[in-house]
Amino acid sequence: MTQITEVAIRKILDSRGNPTVEVDIYTQSGFGTASAPSGASTGANEVTAFPTKGVDFAIQNFQENVAPKLIDMDVIEQEEIDSILVELDGSDNFSNMGGNVSVATSLANAKAAAFVLGLPLYHYLGGAFAKRTPYPLGNVLGGGKHAVGGTDIQEYSAIALGKTAKESIFANAQVHAHVKKRLKDKFPDSAIGKGDEGAWVAKMDNEEALELVADACKEVSDTAGFSIRPCLDIAASELFKDGYYHYKNGKLNTEDQIEFVTHLIDNYELNLVEDPLDQEDFEGYSKLTKAVGSKCTIVGDDLFVTDVNRLKNGIQMGATNAVLIKPNQVGTLTRTIETIKVAHENGYKTVVSHRSGETTDSTIAHLAVAFGCHAIKTGVVGGERTAKLNELIRIEEEIIQSEG
Ligand code: PGA
Ligand code: ZN
Repeated sequence: MTQITEVAIRKILDSRGNPTVEVDIYTQSGFGTASAPSGASTGANEVTAFPTKGVDFAIQNFQENVAPKLIDMDVIEQEEIDSILVELDGSDNFSNMGGNVSVATSLANAKAAAFVLGLPLYHYLGGAFAKRTPYPLGNVLGGGKHAVGGTDIQEYSAIALGKTAKESIFANAQVHAHVKKRLKDKFPDSAIGKGDEGAWVAKMDNEEALELVADACKEVSDTAGFSIRPCLDIAASELFKDGYYHYKNGKLNTEDQIEFVTHLIDNYELNLVEDPLDQEDFEGYSKLTKAVGSKCTIVGDDLFVTDVNRLKNGIQMGATNAVLIKPNQVGTLTRTIETIKVAHENGYKTVVSHRSGETTDSTIAHLAVAFGCHAIKTGVVGGERTAKLNELIRIEEEIIQSEG
């Protein structure tokens, strides 16, 4: 009853209008469907999302060479399914099958298994004690590769530290609205747009933008009655070239960049900073974390690319105190879980994350609850972002009801 009877794959749109894939896994007693997102500021060490011959080729390859091998396998055996995917790909970075094809298959399989067992995914993966919901981390103003004409820094976010995920999610939405109001007041004659993740985009200096977001967080926090703090994803690898971090108004060497980030953390009481330095600079990260790690969550995204070996290296060097978790950076659920476990065993926080090009798939909300992750980064507005936030609201409601 838990054997795979049929597998389907189709091309669907992501939120940027690019093609991606959705996979269905069927058994006699249930099925699962999942799709995969895509990044714009991708890390150099991520697995390949699609083979160089493109999405259509990836679909044909899956239909001919992968799907038939999955028939009769048991959906309950997640690790076996995932190792077959790695084996059938045969490369060390999913360049043949495409990490997006693999991760959609892997997550669809987990969802099919949960369905067969009559459990929500978070409960199937996390067990009866998966009861803690993550803090929502939402992008409210941005630039970098996600926007035209915005700040150099990619994401200015709010993290609302409310008692429930629901009140925190609504608080972040209020910050997003307050940022819009402040931008309208500041630039009454300019067009104000939104970037790929629904964050506002305006022509602003990096620090001026942070000041505006920090003020909006404080204003909402004062009325909400709980802490809402500003955060950044600098996506510094996108700025780093020939030994310098290139900003519109000048360039910084590594020491200067560390000093700049330290200044931002101290001056604006940043709760969390992601990718403050180049993706290969583990040493620079160690210096920064040593200086500010006790007061700020320092998250590695491009630095670790959800890869357990890069994370272990970082842990050994004291590179950060947190890791971003993006399942499509590694291509399987098993690898994703392994990285989360190693992080938690070593006192690192985990932040499960969307990508800039998303689908309405809400699986990451389940993963964040299943493994007790610290936060979920998935924007504030836009259907593909609210799909995850609203799923988290449903999960939280179910947990509260089950506790009586
Ligand atoms: P990406 O950006 O999905 O474009 O890689 C998100 C991030 O850097 O966290
Ligand atoms: Zn990032």
